Amino acid sequence: SNNPTTVFVFGASGDLAKKKTFPALFALFRSNLLPTHTRIVGYARSAMTPAELRERLSKFIRTPTDQDKKTLDEFFKIISYVHGQYDSDEDVIKLAKAAAEVEKKCAQPSSDCATDRVFYLALPPSVFIPISQQIKRHLTDNAGYKRLIVEKPFGKDLASSTELADALAANFAESEIYRIDHYLGKEMVKNLLILRFANVFFGAVWNRQFINNVQITFKEPFGVEGRGGYFDEYGIIRDVMQNHLMQILAIVAMDRPVDLSAEAIRDEKVKVLKSIPHLTVHDVIVGQYTRSGDGKVVGYLELDDVPKDSITPTFAQAVLHIKNERWDGVPFILKCGKAMPDRKAEIRIQFQDVAGNIFPHDLARNELVIRVQPDEAVYIKLMNKKPGLSTETVISELDLSYKQRYGGDYIPDAYEALILDVLRGDHANFVRSDELDVAWRIFTPMLHELERAKHKPEPYEFGSRGPSSADEQLKRHGGFTRHSQPYTWVPPAKH
Ligand code: BG6
Repeated sequence: SNNPTTVFVFGASGDLAKKKTFPALFALFRSNLLPTHTRIVGYARSAMTPAELRERLSKFIRTPTDQDKKTLDEFFKIISYVHGQYDSDEDVIKLAKAAAEVEKKCAQPSSDCATDRVFYLALPPSVFIPISQQIKRHLTDNAGYKRLIVEKPFGKDLASSTELADALAANFAESEIYRIDHYLGKEMVKNLLILRFANVFFGAVWNRQFINNVQITFKEPFGVEGRGGYFDEYGIIRDVMQNHLMQILAIVAMDRPVDLSAEAIRDEKVKVLKSIPHLTVHDVIVGQYTRSGDGKVVGYLELDDVPKDSITPTFAQAVLHIKNERWDGVPFILKCGKAMPDRKAEIRIQFQDVAGNIFPHDLARNELVIRVQPDEAVYIKLMNKKPGLSTETVISELDLSYKQRYGGDYIPDAYEALILDVLRGDHANFVRSDELDVAWRIFTPMLHELERAKHKPEPYEFGSRGPSSADEQLKRHGGFTRHSQPYTWVPPAKH
């Protein structure tokens, strides 16, 4: 719509707001992608002057050129800030008045058009419910649309997630709720739809007959310093696997949606997730990082905000099966870890071995690799004739490295893409309530079992590859790792 728009950022002084929400809003502002009359109203508990807020937020907004600096000055002109509690009528009424004030200023003098409102909850889950009630009560009397953006954690298991969903549903319709899983905003995750459904050759082999196993991996080279309190309550399975990796799995495994509408896509995702039996402890390997080999980085249990006897995993690998015609018997191996040697998120589709090999050497399996980050790339490993007079085979690759192929083309941050989707009213890259429900159904029994049995995670050194039993589990399921192959793909030199 062309209505003036007010974006409320709740938790404006917090980590998520400063690292992700405001930088994304700035990027959209700079590209002229915010509706013409947009105002941003920050809200949080701490009292802050506009100058203090600006100082806090500017640290995370990159402004390499003078023009960017000027644009940033302009950007701060559309931001105001109100402080107050999340459960106080009085404070939220104060916020409503402040919003009405800025909205009056931004509307064109002659216009009496409706105002649209976006409510972004960059908040801990403990205040989701009170603030959504407050918003409903005092901030939704605008004539334009009302859209609520929420972020995980959406509960800790099926029961708590359902409770939260019901509480939100009491105040907002599903069509007004945008549940962020920021992996859905990543360029390569969005690209999956195109790779799969706009290419005839991938479509033809995307099933159990040709695919041996699928590996979806997330690694980070740092631990949880500074957020041990949050992390210890959730652990890596809830923090990354149940959401980010499952979203990728759903898009890799789903059938072709009837069209590109949000509901058509989400219907297919829910359908494929429903074919996955819930996990048990036998399907998962869990690990927890210890001090680094050189002694320089402390282990998880040494962090101040982590209990000394914590059994929270910082590494997990799980093997899932999809009981449908397309995927029966194909393991989907999800792996995620903190304190790993490097940062990487990728999807590896490993194809079947060539039957009846006529060549004198073993043939490596074909692999399709989609690198989500860093350095976006799609490449296919294949066998090729070694150039020259011999008929020797070599492993080679067809390589679509984004830096090389698309040069300096701008790749937006996930949050930028997602906030723009909200402003456009497109739900395709957001998690639907029933989708969240099925994802929790798959994980909840295993999570409860681990906790009930006080299952101790296997220790692994900070910066190592994780527990060795993870590689063994992978091998048992027919997968191989980059490390068990004679050949490693080397990305082309960066420009
Ligand atoms: C968040 C998790 O959802 O995703 C973090 O809470 C994790 O623990 C982060 O570090 C990873 O996101 P990205 O975009 O840096 O890969």
